[in-house]
Amino acid sequence: MPKESAVYTHGHHESVLRSHQWRTAANSAAYLIGELRPGQAVLDVGCGPGTITSDLAELVAPGRVTAVDASGDVLERAAEVARERGLDNVEFATADVHSLDFPDDSFDVVHAHQVLQHVGDPVQALREMRRVCRPGGVVAARDSDYAAMTWYPEVPGMQEWQDLYGRVARANGGEPDAGRRLLSWAREAGFTDITPTAAAWCFATPENRAWWSGLWADRTTASVYAELAVEGGHARAQELTAIAEAWRAWGGEPDGWFMVPHGEALCRV
Ligand SMILES: C[S@@+](CC[C@H](N)C(=O)[O-])C[C@H]1O[C@@H](n2cnc3c(N)ncnc32)[C@H](O)[C@@H]1O
Repeated sequence: MPKESAVYTHGHHESVLRSHQWRTAANSAAYLIGELRPGQAVLDVGCGPGTITSDLAELVAPGRVTAVDASGDVLERAAEVARERGLDNVEFATADVHSLDFPDDSFDVVHAHQVLQHVGDPVQALREMRRVCRPGGVVAARDSDYAAMTWYPEVPGMQEWQDLYGRVARANGGEPDAGRRLLSWAREAGFTDITPTAAAWCFATPENRAWWSGLWADRTTASVYAELAVEGGHARAQELTAIAEAWRAWGGEPDGWFMVPHGEALCRV
């Protein structure tokens, strides 16, 4: 597969959006919030359903947020979210992060949350993000790291989930363990002033466990990921059903605890 034509592993099934729409600037972009000021121009790359985007728009108003994604369908959902929140300072466009249709130095802040793990050439993506960012501005990237995700208690089938996800994501041209690589990608893209950090989501209350395990059970059998796993010969349908059952079993554990670690890179231009 050519380097820049990775397939987006998750797709935008309802079970995927259930996860993405939970995200806020506070739980997913805290490392960036201290850099935001009213009046700034922000580019949110790979905005998905846009709940983080709308938070960014509130934080920089009357500044503007331009939100782009490779998928036109999910942009419609993102526009709906902004409308529901009464925001008039967000605009949306389809775009590929490897080649952005904006002049040099267009934005004060260029942000990507859980996007670089899915693209074929994350270093080229970061070069493009830097090109469209003004001198003095920041490029901010945050990605999860699948192999470093950890949970308790051990439930048969959960390890198979982690192994299978890694195989499918790599076959699609992505890098599921992106969190640990962000610093190296940013250096290779030419950034010299980088603040690397890490932060985690933790799902361990009865409500969080039910939500997280339920959406992963559904993603494993009903989303684009499930189709790609079967079509790519990585798993048979009954194996996906067993993994979904493992998620439900873990979700029913009163001691259940799950951590999603992220790498973060705040790169000054
Ligand atoms: C995991 S979602 C993250 C969405 C959002 N940033 C969030 O955290 O809620 C990744 C998004 O990146 C988009 N994407 C994947 N490859 C892309 C590319 N080459 N250029 C732009 N967007 C891309 C997908 O369509 C998807 O909406």
